[in-house]
Parts: sequence; C-alpha cells; structure tokens
Amino acid sequence: MTKIIIGSDHAGFDLKSKIIDFLKEKGYEVCDTGTYNKNSCDYPVIAHNVATQIAQNKECKGILICGTGIGMSIAANKVKGIRAAVVSDTCSAKMSRMHNNANILCLGERIVGEELAKDIVEIWLSSEFLGERHSRRVEMIED
Ligand code: RB5
Repeated sequence: MTKIIIGSDHAGFDLKSKIIDFLKEKGYEVCDTGTYNKNSCDYPVIAHNVATQIAQNKECKGILICGTGIGMSIAANKVKGIRAAVVSDTCSAKMSRMHNNANILCLGERIVGEELAKDIVEIWLSSEFLGERHSRRVEMIED
C-alpha cells in the first residue's frame, strides 16, 4: 500500500493528528515529519521537507496541512516534480488525481472540518491518474 508522508505547521497540527489516526486505521504506512506540537513554526520548512521526499520517492504520496493549505501548496510546488493541490471539496480531490496527477494533497485546518477532510483524503488516495492527454499536459508542466 502507498506510503504517506505527512507534515503540518502549528495551524494544521490537530487535523494532522486526526488524519494520521485515520490513515493508520485504513492500513496505510505513515511517516510523520512534524511539526510535533502547537508551538508556532514556519510552514515552508515542513513543505520543503515533505516535497523533497515525495520528489525522490515516486511511489509515496504526501499530505501537507496548514491553516488554509495555501502556503503549503505554494512552497511545495517550488520543488521540481511536485504537483501539490489545495483541496477543500471531494470533487477537486478526485480531479486533482485523475487529471493533474497531484502527488501532494494540501488541506487547511481552518477551512475544512474533520469529517470532510477524511472524505477528501480517502477519495484522493483512491483516485487514479487517467493518463493519455493528461500525461502530455502534466509533462508540459514539468518541462
Ligand atoms: C499560520 O498562521 C498560517 O499562516 C499558515 O498555517 C498557513 O495558513 C499559511 O498559508
């Protein structure tokens, strides 16, 4: 099963803990890269750590959580090979995998509730990239 590398800043810490429990219940191997408490910290550090690991381990997927998911996605997308999508609904979760082959899911603890976040994670992890014309477009992003 896919290994999940997950990280958050202080604003995403509570949701990260809940998502880790949820993923473990589902049988996923989870690597928690921190933060490990609610002391204020800088999300770009966490995003860069997770993004570089995902770029080097293409069989893994990443989840990044901050207050909105936005800062994490902006930072993660600076790393070559990363396609990080900020998602706050289940349709976007599915489409970010099917059309964009997103390899990092970004969530905002201040934006989505726990149950919606779990639905988003479950759908995102179970949706597959469609390839074909979408591969060409994703390759254009890489180039
Ligand atoms: C922290 O206050 C907040 O700015 C951060 O978690 C994130 O939402 C940034 O995009």
